[in-house]
Amino acid sequence: MDPPEEEGRVTEISFDDFDEVWEEDDAPAVPSPREVLQSQARAPAEVELTRDVRAPRVRDADFTRVGVLGVGSFGKVVLAKQKTTGNLYALKFVSLARLQDRKQFDRALDERAILATLEHPHVVKLHFAYRVPGHAVLGFEYCAGGELFHHLCKQRVLSPRATAFYAAEVALALQCAHEAGVVYRDVKPENCFLDSRGHLKLGDFGLAKSSVRSPFRGAHSVCGTPEYMAPDVLARKPSGYGTAVDWWGLGICIYELLTGLPAWYTSDRRKLFDRIRGAPLRLPPSIPSDAGACVAALLRRHPRQRLCALNGADELRTEAFFGGVDFDALILGALTPPIEPCTNLARPAHRANFDGKFTTLPVDTPVEGSLPDFLAGDDALATGWEFVRAV
Ligand SMILES: Nc1ncnc2c1ncn2[C@@H]1O[C@H](COP(=O)(O)OP(=O)(O)O)[C@@H](O)[C@H]1O
Ligand SMILES: [Mg+2]
Repeated sequence: MDPPEEEGRVTEISFDDFDEVWEEDDAPAVPSPREVLQSQARAPAEVELTRDVRAPRVRDADFTRVGVLGVGSFGKVVLAKQKTTGNLYALKFVSLARLQDRKQFDRALDERAILATLEHPHVVKLHFAYRVPGHAVLGFEYCAGGELFHHLCKQRVLSPRATAFYAAEVALALQCAHEAGVVYRDVKPENCFLDSRGHLKLGDFGLAKSSVRSPFRGAHSVCGTPEYMAPDVLARKPSGYGTAVDWWGLGICIYELLTGLPAWYTSDRRKLFDRIRGAPLRLPPSIPSDAGACVAALLRRHPRQRLCALNGADELRTEAFFGGVDFDALILGALTPPIEPCTNLARPAHRANFDGKFTTLPVDTPVEGSLPDFLAGDDALATGWEFVRAV
């Protein structure tokens, strides 16, 4: 059966008609985030001790809210200043009343648990997580440059040089996630944030799944943003799909940064999926040949033939399109980004790179309804959500 039709290009969808099943060779070598949270829930004394010794608890009262940055699927993202330090953070409020089922709740727990373990210059840093009535809150480093999508809309297309630079930073972030056994599943310019200097941070791990250690199997949910979904996700094979789907997402992103639209774009959802599954890839003449070759290699439908599927970002080093990117210098943060998003660094709290339809919203985050039944008495949320990154 085909998925339902929907208009628009950036909605995330999720068709969860597959139960997540482990196959023998995909069994997790490390505990899943949920297991980690549950074990924390069983040992509150230990958690309490760790928290007190290494870092003080973080509470809502510690912050002055500056303004809204964006609105996600489950609530507002608010820029806030920590009263004692003056540090700025992006607080992502997840409204518990909006979670419709256990699966969505598990995804929120996964986002918190995965980001707590990842540490990489191109992955948005989760500094802390706390609870308020009605919401679970994630405290991220503030990426003052806004979404890469915002800059793409402003410039219409990016130059091949700028595209290669940002694609390389995304690739390093994906490699870090994959090495930790995490498939990201939502690569798109809206989820790529720029810091004040213009370096890219991959954010929004709301669809990420842990304990996926194979490029080709281990995940089964048909989820993602339609335009960026790989044919292996749409195929719904019993063996599922693996981390190779993220390299497909990178291929679609590179195409979009160079042309302004994702490959095979149409607002007709059924046509879009048909094209992703089987239409020839048409590269407009504006795409340089080395870029076209790289995009075509990332958009190989068979995941085993897809560029980067087996050896990750290292495979990009020999691509002519990335010839101008010194990956070693990039990892060290030694390259100057092509976009300078915050020309007035004297005012770091400015929200000039965020959409006025969000920045003018009130900063309050009222309780939106009663707690869903499936959350009643859930230990993981009560004791396992809180987190402070050790410094
Ligand atoms: N750390 C951050 N710094 C700056 N803006 C952010 C940050 N995190 C989120 N945002 C803004 O909020 C929007 C929604 O957050 P996101 O995590 O993508 O939520 P959702 O999972 O609902 O898409 C982002 O697209 C971005 O504009
Ligand atoms: Mg998002």
